[in-house]
Amino acid sequence: MLKILNVVGARPNFMKIAPIQREMLRRENDFTPLIVHTGQHYDAAMSDSFFVDLGIPAPDYHLEVGSASHAVQTARIMTAFEPVVLREKPDWVLVVGDVNSTIACALVCSKLGVKIAHVEAGLRSRDRSMPEEINRILTDSISDLLLTTSQDADENLRREGVPAEKINFVGNVMIDSLFYSLELAKKSAVRENLGLKENRYAVTTLHRPSNVDEAGVFENLLDALSRVSEHLPVIFPAHPRTKANIAKFGFAEKVENSGIKLIDPLGYLDFLRLYSGARLVLTDSGGLQEETTALGVPCLTLRENTERPITIEMGTNVLVGTDSGKITNAAFRILSGETVSENKKIPPLWDGRAAERICNSLLEIN
Ligand code: UD1
Repeated sequence: MLKILNVVGARPNFMKIAPIQREMLRRENDFTPLIVHTGQHYDAAMSDSFFVDLGIPAPDYHLEVGSASHAVQTARIMTAFEPVVLREKPDWVLVVGDVNSTIACALVCSKLGVKIAHVEAGLRSRDRSMPEEINRILTDSISDLLLTTSQDADENLRREGVPAEKINFVGNVMIDSLFYSLELAKKSAVRENLGLKENRYAVTTLHRPSNVDEAGVFENLLDALSRVSEHLPVIFPAHPRTKANIAKFGFAEKVENSGIKLIDPLGYLDFLRLYSGARLVLTDSGGLQEETTALGVPCLTLRENTERPITIEMGTNVLVGTDSGKITNAAFRILSGETVSENKKIPPLWDGRAAERICNSLLEIN
């Protein structure tokens, strides 16, 4: 019997832990899983609603760390997580993704000699100005089991000297949640509530510090979205930092005078219903690049790099950068019916069964 602490902290963690926790609970003779929520994200719309939509049991521990600078937030998570590990003495701590909670909890375990499994290991944007890239590299370097979503990630890890026996290509647990929720999401009335017809609107999300923390870059992106919105409504569920910066930089009027529709962040099922019926998605999110690939929805990634190249090689993703001319050109080509990406394949092992393989892997290596 393995006692596992499953760590969640920020919005993109919830859909990764949900299927793992469910599978571990199903195999009750093999696993005792506990959920630790660091509280990195704490708004109802950024956290609680995901527990409801994804059927995640209430956390066994809530560390309530909240927002702060990277150093303070990481330190607070470490300070609050250490006593939990000392008390529970888990066989493994499982961390997912690349947020501050991921590295903070992994670092605590590495010093206490508790084994760490990292889900979504090996992804690399090769852009060290991105906080997530530092979190990925450091977490991978101290993890005992590196569970990957694609073979390029295995290759990155091998190149960094990780022994092959620590790496296991298990597929994409994010897609487990997606397939599990597709039918449920059909009950969402989000499209009707916003007056949208399938395939006649675009969806955008932006929250990367490099895109929304600098007025010039952000304005450029809004200009591109505004031009796209002359042709079809652009629905923009905005992350709290994005919303705050729209107010801070005085962009509210610019948005209001365009066809961009700024709305509050959506829950998992409403958001799935929304993007699954979109003509086009424009985003700087990592997860959304994968979700659009799994569903065959055209996606333009408004970044200069991606840690998820498989979504470009096999899926519908196109890396367009942050130049407004390039973004609008690519968007208009899609709207005129051109295929910007020739690909529409679902990558290997993005089949809804990654959590099963993760559990098998933990039992085998133990
Ligand atoms: C974090 C992750 C990022 C992920 C994103 C998804 C890191 C380094 N970054 O970025 O990889 O893509 O989550 O959302 O961990 N805020 C609220 N309410 C909340 C959470 C945040 O208002 O529930 C506001 C606060 O003003 C906070 C800011 O958003 O200061 C940023 O939150 P933080 O968790 O530090 O980073 P994210 O930008 O959300």
